[in-house]
Amino acid sequence: MTGSTPTAPAVKAGIIGLSWIAADPPGPASWHPLGTAPPYSHASAMDAVGGVDVVAVCDIQPDARSRFLDRWRNVWPDVRAFDDVNDMLEVQLDLVSVVTPDHLHGSMIERCIDAGVKMVFCEKPFTTSLDEADRLLERIDAAGTTVSVNHTWRWRPEVAEALEMIGRGDLGPLSHVTIEAGGPRAMLFRNLSHFIDLAIHLVGVEPDWVIGELEHGTGEYGLSYAGEGGSDPTLDPGASILIGFSGGVRAFVTGLKSSLPDVSVQVLCRDGRISIDGLGARVTSVSRTSDGTPASVSGPAIHPLRPRFTSSGMKAGLADLIDSFRRGEEPSGSAQSARRTVAVIDAILRSHAAGNAKVPVARPI
Ligand SMILES: NC(=O)c1ccc[n+]([C@@H]2O[C@H](COP(=O)([O-])OP(=O)(O)OC[C@H]3O[C@@H](n4cnc5c(N)ncnc54)[C@H](O)[C@@H]3O)[C@@H](O)[C@H]2O)c1
Repeated sequence: MTGSTPTAPAVKAGIIGLSWIAADPPGPASWHPLGTAPPYSHASAMDAVGGVDVVAVCDIQPDARSRFLDRWRNVWPDVRAFDDVNDMLEVQLDLVSVVTPDHLHGSMIERCIDAGVKMVFCEKPFTTSLDEADRLLERIDAAGTTVSVNHTWRWRPEVAEALEMIGRGDLGPLSHVTIEAGGPRAMLFRNLSHFIDLAIHLVGVEPDWVIGELEHGTGEYGLSYAGEGGSDPTLDPGASILIGFSGGVRAFVTGLKSSLPDVSVQVLCRDGRISIDGLGARVTSVSRTSDGTPASVSGPAIHPLRPRFTSSGMKAGLADLIDSFRRGEEPSGSAQSARRTVAVIDAILRSHAAGNAKVPVARPI
């Protein structure tokens, strides 16, 4: 979580898709993912990170283009708005944010690669099929494009702190992760992808297998994406998932429309638990005697988790992308890491179709 180098030349940037998540001014910092973008949109993150000059934006809707120009022309006076992405990509750009509906992400990344864009910051999900993810990974590797997928929870300061605690073994070995999300929203591909990514990020190893069930009442869904971009929540089902990781750690992830619009993240280790939910972030720990038995299970210590990191959400993700590109490294939200989330979603659909069978998660080709 570092800022980008202030002395570097300005990054010439573009944005494809200009809805609120691309164009809003920064909102009040909030932990909660369900309200306004917490706290950045793509444009406000580009503004906040510094050294980014937005010169070209695109949307098929005239209203979205004029709203963007009204809002941001005072910050980027030279910005031009296009109605066709191919025209926009004739402008030479270093970085492009892809903020279109879910099923267009893959083809937009591909067009950016064709146009020689060096960095792509793409909304989740990375793609809406595993085949497309694998084809795209080959193209990304061949072109050397640095791609980061905006699974925004990765860049929450509490999550970064939790990850460091797990890595140091502060609470003993990791046992399992539970994440509960809910609300009447487009779920599996659109919102649950945040929490599948988060579970994989926290556990830190390859997911091996999945047992999945689409939410009661979903009916026949099949093995292919049917969400039509994500704007109609009824087309993107909720799900309950058990993910098995190599080494024995498990993750339970639910995203149910019948449940309240809330999120609870619990990281359970041998000697304690990290909780991130509506009450804030906190650590519950038990101490152990010298022979290793828990000494204070009845009176665990609970204290707030105070992250040292200050950069959050999209601003942190964007800074990580630019810094990683400049260092020649893979960003935290790399296309490779985002492919794991697509592979787990693919496994959920296969498991559901096979009567909740335990199915392997397809490894990269
Ligand atoms: N990371 C987060 O926290 C977060 C939050 C909300 C949305 N999202 C993601 O952001 C993306 C956009 O979400 P949304 O609800 O605003 O979607 P949306 O369906 O409203 O589409 C976004 C914009 O893309 C434009 N668009 C559609 N096709 C286009 C094309 N071919 N060329 C150029 N512009 C095109 C639309 O006109 C619209 O203005 C989705 O992928 C969604 O999953 C992420």
